[in-house]
Amino acid sequence: MDKLDLDNDKYIRILELISEKTVSGEFIAKSLNISRVAVWKKIKKLEDLGYKIYKSKSGYKLVSRPNKLLPFEVLPILKTSQLGKNYIYFEKINSTNIFLKERKDLTDGTVVLAEYQESGKGRKGRKWISPAYKGLYFSILLKKNFNVINLLKLSLFFGYIVRNVIQKYVSDKVYIKWPNDIYLNGKKLGGILIETELEGNEVNRVIVGIGININGNMEDLKPVSDIATSLKIEERRDFNRKEIFIRLLEDIENKLGKLEDFNPSEEINQFLLWKGEKITVLDEGLEGVLEGVDKNGGLIIRTGTDKERKILFSGDISIRKQN
Ligand code: BTN
Repeated sequence: MDKLDLDNDKYIRILELISEKTVSGEFIAKSLNISRVAVWKKIKKLEDLGYKIYKSKSGYKLVSRPNKLLPFEVLPILKTSQLGKNYIYFEKINSTNIFLKERKDLTDGTVVLAEYQESGKGRKGRKWISPAYKGLYFSILLKKNFNVINLLKLSLFFGYIVRNVIQKYVSDKVYIKWPNDIYLNGKKLGGILIETELEGNEVNRVIVGIGININGNMEDLKPVSDIATSLKIEERRDFNRKEIFIRLLEDIENKLGKLEDFNPSEEINQFLLWKGEKITVLDEGLEGVLEGVDKNGGLIIRTGTDKERKILFSGDISIRKQN
């Protein structure tokens, strides 16, 4: 795992100084209260990470930034009070969800992001294809106590936020496939994997893993390109991952406090994929017309005559449209 343990504040400050104008090594050293050699080492490290820095007799000047979601790219502009303030960044990891599961010492609101996941996890044991530097693959740790009853609502809530943020970037309607897949033009653009640790009826740690295909092309998504898509494939342009990531974290924090008031029936139905269509519930052998989502987040399926309805509550099932 390639985790970066860097002195974020100092790098943030150096980048601030050299982004405006050419600044001498001496000036940087004085401003940060470090030696000239330490400045030189940090400049070298920034170059290794992909920053282009113009060096002249009069000092250093930033020319360009790498396409990476490094802490010192994200933290200076993230306007949350807690979410993501503990930000753990990996160039490469097995899975950001697995990392949070294994680390019991981390605080509420910790966010782990990886540029590439070797074994990204999807729901139901599936794999999440995570091409490097082309998507958003991150997990959020919530250490509040939730009652298990609210878990389905929580899972729909994250789908709702991700959907609304993505909608700001595209003109075609973005849909939610129950419980929390994000669909654009009939293909899957993003997914959410929620994992919980229970103590009795209380959930004390919730890990929310979010994966969104942003700048990948068909080749990058190859094993799943017939069912998956990316913003770039649909819109034919590159997107700013940092901007989308920051927007997501800020929206999640702003709305999380109002989770109690979140009514899935009011918020999800208008964007529900396959609403009114005939569907099959996999693993259950259940068929019917998808009527919508109720106020608790349950999926209402009309199975037979007008009065027969089934409501599904387990977020651990999958549905498929009938041809
Ligand atoms: C799904 O649609 O099946 C859920 C996909 C969730 C993928 C994300 S990417 C970040 C986090 N880490 C993982 O290993 N999985 C989730």
